Amino acid sequence: MKMSRLDLLLSGSSIVICAIVLYTVQNMKKGKEKENNDEDKTIGKADLGGPFALINQDGVPVTDATFRDQFVLLYFGFTFCPDICPNEINKVTEVMNEIGDQNSFDTKPVFVTIDPNRDTIGQLKYYSQDFDPRFTWLTGPSSQIQEIAKSYRVFTGKVDEGEEDDGDYLVDHSSFMYLIDPSGECIDFYGKSQHVEDIARSINRHMRKYSGKGKGT
Ligand code: NI
Repeated sequence: MKMSRLDLLLSGSSIVICAIVLYTVQNMKKGKEKENNDEDKTIGKADLGGPFALINQDGVPVTDATFRDQFVLLYFGFTFCPDICPNEINKVTEVMNEIGDQNSFDTKPVFVTIDPNRDTIGQLKYYSQDFDPRFTWLTGPSSQIQEIAKSYRVFTGKVDEGEEDDGDYLVDHSSFMYLIDPSGECIDFYGKSQHVEDIARSINRHMRKYSGKGKGT
């Protein structure tokens, strides 16, 4: 059975039209709330993240609930990554230092591997020695890793280098720092090109806003 190009085009365009209608309706709804909330640059982060159950570098089970009373800076990567991951992990540390401790909430940096076959508990423990001791390093069964990666829409793909399977491979992956608030909600994310100072400023703003919640501000 073959779908004609026209069929594809038609179904494609009706999806686009639906999206436009939906977008317009949502924007009309949001219009009023937006006025007194101009610091909120919404990029659809509301539906990122979800519950997870993984294991840390000491073999202790860790779930999303473990971090319920603090902010979390979450990063996905793999320890065999030659340059991007080490740089980004160090950038998380720089952000942590820049945030400082003037806030009423602690911030916990968390690394989740997207390469659980090689990133065992032992490997994470070994790798962690070269980085900020404040980090929690998480691994787990492939199915669980896939689930959490999917919930944060992390793109991953194994890069095949030649035919032989000598366990030496790279994993292509998207690289974002996710901010999770003490209620467990992912409230923002930051890309590679964003500067440490700007990220820290944004996080501090989120913390102030979170602290103000319930006090009627
Ligand atoms: Ni990497």
